Amino acid sequence: MTKRILLIISGGIAAYKSLELVRLLRKRGIAVRAVLTESAEKFVTPLSLGVLTEDHVYGDMFDLKEEREIGHIQLSRQADLVVVAPATANMLAKMAGGIADNLATTLLLATDKPVLAVPAMNIRMWHHAATQRNIAQLKADGIHVMEPDSGEMACGEFGKGRLPEPQAIAAEVARLLALPLPADPLAGQPDFETADTPLAGRHVLVTAGPTHEPIDPVRYIANRSSGKQGFAIAAAAARAGARVTLVAGPVHLPTPTGVNRVDVETAREMLGAVEAALPADAAIMVAAVADWRTADAADQKLKKDGSGKPAPLPLVENPDILATLGKHAKRPALLVGFAAETQKVAEHAQAKLARKGADWIVANDVSGDVMGGDSNSVHIVSRDGVESWENLPKDAVATRLIEKVAHVLSARPD
Ligand code: C5P
Repeated sequence: MTKRILLIISGGIAAYKSLELVRLLRKRGIAVRAVLTESAEKFVTPLSLGVLTEDHVYGDMFDLKEEREIGHIQLSRQADLVVVAPATANMLAKMAGGIADNLATTLLLATDKPVLAVPAMNIRMWHHAATQRNIAQLKADGIHVMEPDSGEMACGEFGKGRLPEPQAIAAEVARLLALPLPADPLAGQPDFETADTPLAGRHVLVTAGPTHEPIDPVRYIANRSSGKQGFAIAAAAARAGARVTLVAGPVHLPTPTGVNRVDVETAREMLGAVEAALPADAAIMVAAVADWRTADAADQKLKKDGSGKPAPLPLVENPDILATLGKHAKRPALLVGFAAETQKVAEHAQAKLARKGADWIVANDVSGDVMGGDSNSVHIVSRDGVESWENLPKDAVATRLIEKVAHVLSARPD
């Protein structure tokens, strides 16, 4: 039977993405009925939504004709799922407070169906205590809330608050409607055959990005990792049908389609998130974890004391996440590490393989502009020897690596 969703679009620049969302949902055979708030109508027109949904678009609570033809209670209950995308800070506040002052909010109060809210707003609005309180309340009320993406915002600021990509929202809707996910969820990336899901039923754990180790409330130790290679690997694993957990340090990258992302800051938080995600069939540790952290991060900003001498900054070693997994009771069947080297790349990787208890080390020469760049020259070092790949875009490295992971796992029982 055709699944139906009621899509509530609230106002905000991200509202224009709802058109693409509708297109993707329709492509999956999901019927969409749209409701626009008054401010959303400033960003998308009922006409374009009507064309894409092939249905009437609802907007004004007091449209008597609508009220006679289809009462709002009925409208809210004919769907299998109610999706609010984008959900502005204002909309989330009304939902959390049970306010019903227009058609959209009235439907949300009247529905007896599951609700998915997809927030989108400026970073400061997202981090505001009021918004976070509302999100916690909505979750406690049983509303599904997607995490916003991090990245550049329409307002020019960087950070968390972007509407997730329409593909990611469509994948979440399909999940909640219990529809099977296609192998390549509409990503338009022809790396895998659509029917090719060699990692279906597998859990793949990926770490990516740098870690930030606080010195005081305003300063931290970091490195130049962009997270691009790890995110590309997580995306490739999801396209291959795996359930993917991506533990990400602080980076400005959107979450790949179909990937569960856990954001962390420090190495110790990353270790905690990695252990919490076990068991996994394969773990691919791409993060450039800081080797050291300050012995004691200061509670207050460190100040010059006038003596001309810098403040002492004693460091202690961070836990080695890869080595911890190497000897973990729940060690993944396939454990892959990365090694950024500037010289004797393969030789150092062999030593690392043994030291960390990994199955493969993907060694890359970072003497060029690999960090932050879009391509990578890698050598796959295992007990069987070294396989050197030509310089490839990071996406292609990811796809090939995941094919290799799938090949190895397919030889093992579930
Ligand atoms: O020892 P090195 O930092 O070169 O090793 C790199 C590999 O080890 C990467 O896979 C990285 O993710 C992992 N690593 C880790 N925890 C650390 C340091 C590195 O998981 N504290």
